[in-house]
Amino acid sequence: MFVLLLACAPDPVAGEERYALFCASCHGADGGAGVQVEGVAATDLAAVVPSRSDAELQALIQEGVGAMPAQGIDDADVADLMAYLREQFDGG
Ligand code: HEC
Repeated sequence: MFVLLLACAPDPVAGEERYALFCASCHGADGGAGVQVEGVAATDLAAVVPSRSDAELQALIQEGVGAMPAQGIDDADVADLMAYLREQFDGG
């Protein structure tokens, strides 16, 4: 049972790899790089992640928001990514 749970749980280490692939180019490794897209700076993640629900984060990642383009990441990978975002930008 325990092993099963572990296998199904979102994995922040895999999430960090997703982050490096899909997010760091604009938000930077520390979330605060603020690279400009169409004249809009990428939001500092430490400033916004704590106030966004998982559902809101999933939607903006998969559908895009404002100047941020949608990122083609499937639900399982988004779950891993979310675990990393909470750990890194939301005090764990
Ligand atoms: C091509 C550059 C780019 C990439 C790649 C990118 N972002 Fe963004 N992101 C932006 C920009 C620009 C904004 C500001 C959008 C606006 O306010 O119009 C933003 C805003 C955000 C916000 C704040 C949205 C809000 O509700 O205020 C979050 C959270 C976010 N990005 C997370 C991510 C995550 C997680 C990834 C990786 C899956 C990612 N971004 C990939 C450019 C990017």
